[in-house]
Amino acid sequence: MALLHTRRLLAAPRLASTAARASSWWSHVEMGPPDPILGVTEAFKRDTNSKKMNLGVGAYRDDNGKPYVLNCVRKYVTVQGISGTGSLRIGANFLQRFFKSSRDVYLPKPSWGNHTPIFRDAGMQLQAYRYYDPKTCSLDFSGAMDDISKIPEKSIILLHACAHNPTGVDPRQEQWKELAALVKKRNLLVYFDMAYQGFASGDINRDAWAVRHFIEQGINVVLSQSYAKNMGLYGERAGAFTVICSDAEEAKRVESQLKILIRPMYSNPPLNGARIASTILNTPELRKEWLVEVKGMADRIIGMRTQLVSNLKKEGSSHNWQHITDQIGMFCFTGLKPEQVERLTKEFSIYMTKDGRISVAGVTSGNVGYLAHAIHQVTK
Ligand SMILES: Cc1ncc(COP(=O)(O)O)c(C=O)c1O
Repeated sequence: MALLHTRRLLAAPRLASTAARASSWWSHVEMGPPDPILGVTEAFKRDTNSKKMNLGVGAYRDDNGKPYVLNCVRKYVTVQGISGTGSLRIGANFLQRFFKSSRDVYLPKPSWGNHTPIFRDAGMQLQAYRYYDPKTCSLDFSGAMDDISKIPEKSIILLHACAHNPTGVDPRQEQWKELAALVKKRNLLVYFDMAYQGFASGDINRDAWAVRHFIEQGINVVLSQSYAKNMGLYGERAGAFTVICSDAEEAKRVESQLKILIRPMYSNPPLNGARIASTILNTPELRKEWLVEVKGMADRIIGMRTQLVSNLKKEGSSHNWQHITDQIGMFCFTGLKPEQVERLTKEFSIYMTKDGRISVAGVTSGNVGYLAHAIHQVTK
């Protein structure tokens, strides 16, 4: 309606100048009948009778005739963010303004490179806890537990919900349980970053297990989500920031402040990507198809890991490459040294970050043999 109206306004001067040349092409267009369902609502809105009832639309209403928002939904405040990064930044600014007990955000060592500037630019201080053991190319669980047990109470800890970037190393469910108990004991606020839901196991529910477990344990949680990877909406910048609140009243207050934070940043988020995401999530056939495709993407990556290891064996490599198949998600921390990475680039035109991280999503059955050959050449 609004768009039509604008067009009419824009076209007006031109119409005036050509009015003498031709009468309107559209004078024969008749008024269309009202939509059978929406027309009922339009008629309802026009009616001034104080006893009016709208029984035309199949949307649940409460006993006061008002739209009903389920109480469990009221406890989440979720705002749309500009993909994962923008959602993290809203969260960082929210914490800077309202988390009074500490400025400190504890990141896993290592973490996604952008976490540091996001929180630092929002005025927070960065600290770290042990996470990855380069010797075993796996989780340093005891190191993490030890460091977390020393984090001052009421600080913020950032956890990658699944498919940790850059290491590809996640805690197992029993380890998540122990982490949750410790975090609860230390009374920490947990900031979950979930940029790869579905990419770890191929199952979005399984990948959300840790987030749900922490919430079930009554731990204070905030969450940033990205739909860039799991819906392939990279350029659309669809994401969300969520604060779990204790009741509907608190949620309302938090939401009002999030809106105040967002307004001078970008006023309103773009619509298109969010509409695509919402349509996929709310249309049963599309949702089903999406879940199959997420699994397809995750399975292809898992398959490439297996093929890379078997090709390395075929090449005659005697190293233990088990971490390649143990790690999960899009990335693999190969354990390659900076000088080996440099050789891979110079001699084989294989590009990766200096820390030896490869995006397994870039490996195909067509190039996995070449990659294995090159890795073997620089590691033998
Ligand atoms: C751990 C992590 N968080 C957040 C993001 C941000 O994702 P987006 O591209 O949706 O901004 C990324 C992207 O690489 C990431 O790896």
